Amino acid sequence: MMLPMNDAALLTPGDYADAVATAVRAAAAYYTDGATPLGDDEYDALLRAVAAYEQAHPQEVLPDSPTGKVAGGAVGGDVPHSVPMLSLDNVFSAEELADWAAGLERRLGRPVDAWCVEPKLDGLAVAARYRAGRLHQLITRGDGLAGEDISHAADAVLGLPAVLAEPVDVELRGEVLLTREQFEHANEVRTAHGAVPFANPRNGAAGTLRAKDRPYRVELTFFGYGAVGLDESPDGGIGDGPGEGEGLTHSALLERLAALGANTAATTAAHPLRCATLEEAQQRVDEIAALRSELPFGIDGVVVKADSAADQREAGSGSRAPRWAVARKLAAEHKVTRLLDVEWNVGRTGIIAPRAVLEPVVIDGVTVTYATLHNPADITRRGLMLGDRVFVYRAGDVIPRVEAPLVDERTGEERPIAFPEVCPRCGDAIDREEQRWRCVRGRDCQLVASISYAVGRDQLDIEGLGGTRAVQLVEAGLVSDLADLWTLTREQLLALERMGDTSTDNLLAAIETARSRPLNRVFCALGVRGTGRTMSRRIAAHFGSMAAIRAADAETLAQVDGIGTEKARVIVAELADLSPLLDRLADRGVGTAVTAPQAPATASAEEPTIEGTGPLAGEAVVVTGSMTGPLAALSRNEVNELIERAGGKASSSVSKRTTLLVAGEKAGSKRAKAEDLGIRILTPDEFAALVAAHLPQA
Ligand code: IVH
Repeated sequence: MMLPMNDAALLTPGDYADAVATAVRAAAAYYTDGATPLGDDEYDALLRAVAAYEQAHPQEVLPDSPTGKVAGGAVGGDVPHSVPMLSLDNVFSAEELADWAAGLERRLGRPVDAWCVEPKLDGLAVAARYRAGRLHQLITRGDGLAGEDISHAADAVLGLPAVLAEPVDVELRGEVLLTREQFEHANEVRTAHGAVPFANPRNGAAGTLRAKDRPYRVELTFFGYGAVGLDESPDGGIGDGPGEGEGLTHSALLERLAALGANTAATTAAHPLRCATLEEAQQRVDEIAALRSELPFGIDGVVVKADSAADQREAGSGSRAPRWAVARKLAAEHKVTRLLDVEWNVGRTGIIAPRAVLEPVVIDGVTVTYATLHNPADITRRGLMLGDRVFVYRAGDVIPRVEAPLVDERTGEERPIAFPEVCPRCGDAIDREEQRWRCVRGRDCQLVASISYAVGRDQLDIEGLGGTRAVQLVEAGLVSDLADLWTLTREQLLALERMGDTSTDNLLAAIETARSRPLNRVFCALGVRGTGRTMSRRIAAHFGSMAAIRAADAETLAQVDGIGTEKARVIVAELADLSPLLDRLADRGVGTAVTAPQAPATASAEEPTIEGTGPLAGEAVVVTGSMTGPLAALSRNEVNELIERAGGKASSSVSKRTTLLVAGEKAGSKRAKAEDLGIRILTPDEFAALVAAHLPQA
């Protein structure tokens, strides 16, 4: 059934019954270890649609409806909880969070004393019972009233000590999950034992906690966020239901948990923060959300809690969730879609990499159509088939990847994935020695394409070296990498077909001119994955020299605007691979220009970067429409270079941060947007006058 994502009120009575049935099925899978047929966003949208329908038709609410029930009413257990283990209500935007907070303050009749903002860990809630400081029993949340005994799994849970630092009777509550590293490791171990890999970390945590007698061990991690019995109040205080008396603030409780030896999010970049105002809390929500893709574990939201015990006590709890805490949900990083095809692409180094073609799916605002499949062995390990419904993961600037098929959803129409017999680019043999297949010709397989790219207008701009000329040079054995261009002699060129005196001289002159191209052009010419023209300009400006770029580690590279940790790692690896070529280019004086770096290559993230100087210092500039006057001859990349030479920052889309739009003829939606936002707009001529001193010499 297709569901309206935002238009919850559209359900008809028939749709409502279907929606309840789908949600019950999805909740059962989600809270046990099946593969849910829905992604998290779709499940949340489904529940909102069901709840909206029920609000409008209260007399028609079906008894098995998941609304108002912990875990959607899907699971139970036989170990009663001392104090119910509640769920959380969700909000989906800053506005909804503000409304929720206002509602809470209305209820209290006073402002909330302080907030505590912390990550919403994407795992499974557990209660760990300690007697005299010794771990005695581990229980799942179940339906919130009773859970399942999973004490057999306790040993494998890091961060949940067998013995606490004090001999207390206490029940720690928190989330058990697989960190990204534990997830990768778990899947390696599983596939080595012939088991199907886990679809995603959450699924893996659920399966691992329940599993008994596995022939291998998978470690998990506990993060505590609550406790029963710590503040000595009658019903155990903060955690799931605050008690009488003063009681601990939530932030103090988290400190107590850590002091007892339990792991908490305090050790992570997304550490809980006490915030005096809702504005500060909103800011921390945004910070934690921004950190998401860098965290070593998955989060599906940020939890905002009233910090003081008095506020919690007076707000109280409903049957499903406390009124003093709420989850600000973030868009899911996992989505379910269909695998339509697998393409095989040959990389610059000759690696033959499979790429999934997907039914387009929006993940956190980005439409994903392709995803990596790593290598052929990985496809086999995951047991993927064409036509499968698959889990796709994308976070931040991480390349989307296909994680696993939903085997239960198969229709019988699925087809096996065909592996190539020969290199799909050049038809030569494939080297299958390693997990990653490679064309036996290695880099040479792609040589012509790499050279043609490197000499293009926005890179080294060597006129007269188009595709056919590059083929000629490679086939004649004159060029076996980019650096060979600067060894070409007049005689060698004249000996080639269709090369006369004039074209030879012109080509040699163009190659000579290219020797002194600025760093950003030379870097761009290398074709390092994930670095086009814009990124190359930023990297060049940041480091100032090829030597500094080569010396940078992933952490240093990640300081460049727009480079996340994953991309930084790829760049470092590619540069290491390109090291011999870079040495040869340097020997020939290519890319050796040095400029003052805009940020010291060794600067830490806290140190301020040196602001650009020039007429555009501090300006964020977007260029649109066709350029006229002195700018007419420049490519868009050259205009962007000009902006950066003049001290500004070039970007391609208009946003609130844009300070200046250069609008040429036929400027369209960008101009309209800039007008809406009240951004300063200049014609190409006005702009040229402003940056006249930085225009390229004709
Ligand atoms: S507080 C009464 N804090 O999210 C308070 N829950 O969707 C209930 N969760 O059942 C829990 N991180 O399993 C709390 N920092 C956090 C959390 C968290 C993850 C889970 C927990 C809860 C579910 C609700």
